[in-house]
Amino acid sequence: MKNPLNIAIIGSGGREHAIIKKLKKSPKTARLTAIPGNAGIERDGVPCHFDIDPLDVSAVTKRCKSEKFDYVVVTPDNPLALGMVDELNKAGIRSFGPERKAALIESSKIFAKDLMKEYNIPTADYAAFSNGSADALKYTRESFASGKEAVVVKADGLALGKGVTVCFSLEEAEAAIRGAMDKKLFGKSGESIIIEEYLTGTEVSVLSFCDGSTVVPMASAMDHKRALNGDAGANTGGMGCIAPNPFYLPEIADLCKEKIFDPTIEAVKKEAAPFKGCLYFGLMLTEEGPKVIEYNCRFGDPETQAVLPLLESDLLSIMTACTDGTLTADMVRFMKGASSACVVAASKGYPAKYETGFQIKGLEASAGENLDVYCAGVELEDGVLVTSGGRVLCVSAVADSLEQAIRGAYGGLEKIEFENKCFRTDIGEQALKRGISAA
Ligand code: AMP
Ligand code: GLY
Repeated sequence: MKNPLNIAIIGSGGREHAIIKKLKKSPKTARLTAIPGNAGIERDGVPCHFDIDPLDVSAVTKRCKSEKFDYVVVTPDNPLALGMVDELNKAGIRSFGPERKAALIESSKIFAKDLMKEYNIPTADYAAFSNGSADALKYTRESFASGKEAVVVKADGLALGKGVTVCFSLEEAEAAIRGAMDKKLFGKSGESIIIEEYLTGTEVSVLSFCDGSTVVPMASAMDHKRALNGDAGANTGGMGCIAPNPFYLPEIADLCKEKIFDPTIEAVKKEAAPFKGCLYFGLMLTEEGPKVIEYNCRFGDPETQAVLPLLESDLLSIMTACTDGTLTADMVRFMKGASSACVVAASKGYPAKYETGFQIKGLEASAGENLDVYCAGVELEDGVLVTSGGRVLCVSAVADSLEQAIRGAYGGLEKIEFENKCFRTDIGEQALKRGISAA
């Protein structure tokens, strides 16, 4: 083995905390640092660089050079879209994550949809619009007039997870189109939009490791995106997750590999640049078969907090194989027969307005074997850990059955206290009810 690596992780969420916890276990890790990280990550003995803005590509690259990091894991969408991996590579620093051109698969929905169309990758029908709202409004009126029950309006660019609106009426669709294109609610990201066919079915998230040519899927997951029980309320970054997703049966997984995953990695290589890093497939299992809802060029949050605890093999070896183009399927082993669940504790009001600054108690009590707490919106105030964001933390449990994993995660979450703590109480319930055996 070569010398152990001095590693930096870019990002500050629960997802980064989960990656760090896994990398800590690698015999190939010498030292870990987070840029910027959060107070919960620092509490775990990982130094954080709070003075650096993770969107400042040049400042991050300079710091990585001056601190002599050998390997940098770039996790969030925005730095990837800004070309942080390209800059690090230019500076001679190896990194995990796609270059800017390959990251277009998330940072431009029009690019992603055109790619799928060109390469016959199953996805919702769509039309793309730019240069003002008139044509988009006309198209939408015609869609509803022809009997469509809904359309989905999507800003082309990154919009902090807020760029997608599922519209069940013409009024809603008109408001979404005008908001993006005329009122410029998402800035440049909404100047172009797509209007998509509304798909129905069960959603599955599949994160995968990619080395530019080979794609190896991880355990599947089911996110719970809405703020409230029963999938009601506003769309959020994700309120909880289970893995594996019991609806993602082995024959569906095989079909996805053949019709979606492999063709996607080939298409990106041809049309943009080889995709190296984690490619996230957001899928809808429709009556016509699995279709792509979205691609993300990064690990999902909170999918990562449910999926990585099930990974048996060494994460750092897999990541460096992605970077070096030497990934093989046998490097990636997940626990057989085990399930995991993670539940997010948020600040009341999230994803809209919420208060912060409340003391968080009970973190020690909630950790245990097969149970982890991953911090996100937390900071230190006079030496006390307090809330500082919408999604504050999540508790993740692994067990022999999904039911036990869910119980474990909620058991851990109960012991954590902070004012205005809120969470969904039905994570994994729908999956349990259907009682299908896991893939
Ligand atoms: P995103 O912000 O891209 O993660 O999308 C948010 C959510 O919108 C997805 O998880 C789906 O629940 C929903 N969604 C996006 N596109 C479609 C579609 N074409 N049909 C139905 N639902 C969709
Ligand atoms: N949980 C969805 C995402 O990371 O985009």
